Amino acid sequence: MTAPPAERAGAPHGGDGARRPGPLGDGVARDYARKLQRFNAFAEPELRRAIAELDLRRGMRVLDAGCGSGEAVGWLAAQVGDEGAVVGLDLSAAHVAAARAIAPGNAAIVRADLTDAPLAAAAFDAIWSVNTLNHLHDPGAAIGSLSAALRPGGRFALGQSALLPEMVFAWDARLESRVNEAVRRYYRERYRIDERALTAVRALLGQMRAAGLQDVRARSWLIERTSPLDAASERYLGETIFRDTWGARLQPYLHRDDYAELRRLCDPAQPQYALRRRDFHYLQSFTLVLGRAAST
Ligand SMILES: C[S@@+](CC[C@H](N)C(=O)[O-])C[C@H]1O[C@@H](n2cnc3c(N)ncnc32)[C@H](O)[C@@H]1O
Repeated sequence: MTAPPAERAGAPHGGDGARRPGPLGDGVARDYARKLQRFNAFAEPELRRAIAELDLRRGMRVLDAGCGSGEAVGWLAAQVGDEGAVVGLDLSAAHVAAARAIAPGNAAIVRADLTDAPLAAAAFDAIWSVNTLNHLHDPGAAIGSLSAALRPGGRFALGQSALLPEMVFAWDARLESRVNEAVRRYYRERYRIDERALTAVRALLGQMRAAGLQDVRARSWLIERTSPLDAASERYLGETIFRDTWGARLQPYLHRDDYAELRRLCDPAQPQYALRRRDFHYLQSFTLVLGRAAST
């Protein structure tokens, strides 16, 4: 009898989760699955292009470290086929439940802390991890310990969106930079981290090299959307960014006139709603840093 995907791929059985919350508040009880589902529906074309860059083959074993709501687990599983296996690993109970609900038969979803998950050595042909390293206290250490789970020569792919500032209001760079600064101030205060810690993720490439990975290279794509928007883009930008990320929580950090202008642009009930403007043109970068475990 064929072993189940988790066992075939040397997955851990799960632990009790992080001992202290991550720098951005992640923990077992944290739930932002809806936000992740909207992002993955929105950026699916570019994320699938990035997965193609991994050059996965049928029969391979892949780990998605910090799999969130599990969309990428399905895309990876389609590449490795039924002979292969994908393990999605995440700390959050709600994210794990969302990922399990859509996991294909050749995938297993495990709840564990990736910083001390008991992964079998050399168990995986590839590791995929997107927008997760910036949620850890010590990303360099995590890269090092995860790479021990790669077979010699195995591929390590770290993806990170928005290393470059996004363009949301093509017609108003001033308001956009005020809003970006307000978002950063909100995060700095809410999570009590300084600007350097908040942006440390920009050094992913150097961290991969420092962890001993070889042939490290980076490739970036632009996620570009213009009006009229498709439904997934409208949902992500309108609900996740405008309503949830830029809601009333930004008010303390913006001048009253800028906040009022932002409300008009972000409210679908207003004639000025940004997503219906003919000049709406959105840009976000997505960067993949790729490396290989040393061959023995
Ligand atoms: C921004 S989300 C990205 C999720 C997914 N990779 C995606 O692109 O949609 C970061 C994920 O990392 C998970 N996470 C944070 N710290 C973790 C840890 N120490 N161990 C495992 N997962 C963790 C969170 O629960 C969350 O699902």
